[in-house]
Amino acid sequence: MGEGSVGNDRTGHAMTSRFLLDDLRSQRMYATTVADRIWREWWGPHGATLADVEAALDECLDVNDLPVTLVAHESGRFLGTVTCVASDLAERSQYSPWIAALWVEPEERGQGLGAALLGKAEARLRDLGVGTMFLCAKSTLRRYYAALGWELLEQGVGPHLLDVWRRLATPAGA
Ligand SMILES: CC(C)(COP(=O)(O)OP(=O)(O)OC[C@H]1O[C@@H](n2cnc3c(N)ncnc32)[C@H](O)[C@@H]1OP(=O)(O)O)[C@@H](O)C(=O)NCCC(=O)NCCS
Repeated sequence: MGEGSVGNDRTGHAMTSRFLLDDLRSQRMYATTVADRIWREWWGPHGATLADVEAALDECLDVNDLPVTLVAHESGRFLGTVTCVASDLAERSQYSPWIAALWVEPEERGQGLGAALLGKAEARLRDLGVGTMFLCAKSTLRRYYAALGWELLEQGVGPHLLDVWRRLATPAGA
């Protein structure tokens, strides 16, 4: 089980709130909520059903490495999620693996949870021996991923004109 702290608030003051970052396999009670958020934000607008997402998520619960879904939670409360997958963007099938579906509950945003989830996903991939990882995002998130140390590889990819980002895994403790 991984523990996290949201660190500093916007004024730089230390915050006491703590949360846990775990593999969904060990926190299956959050699976329905994770599926709901992925469906509403990404899959539903493209015509998929909630059952489609639930089936895909079941795959994350059944395998040992990828795909893997992580959840942030605190005292039984779901806070956010992220998933590592082998492929995420049909137009760039040569790249793998990807960090996808990064989501923080709206009322929990702006406290570093997104960065913590992303960092945990990066660490998980690094532990799997991954050297280079990718993610795709709308251009509105350009400042966000750049600030978190990702390298902008391409812009305007695919029908949704996504940015493609790359990150080289750094050795643990580096
Ligand atoms: C993007 C998201 C995961 C960030 O989560 P978070 O916990 O608020 O992120 P953090 O607290 O680590 O970082 C907050 C910073 O990111 C910035 N940020 C967050 N969302 C942003 C956006 N859509 N565009 C630009 N900047 C954004 C905030 O302004 C804040 O900047 P500041 O620290 O300078 O004030 C969250 O807003 C979210 O779930 N959005 C909806 C789903 C989504 O777009 N996911 C990304 C898919 S690629």
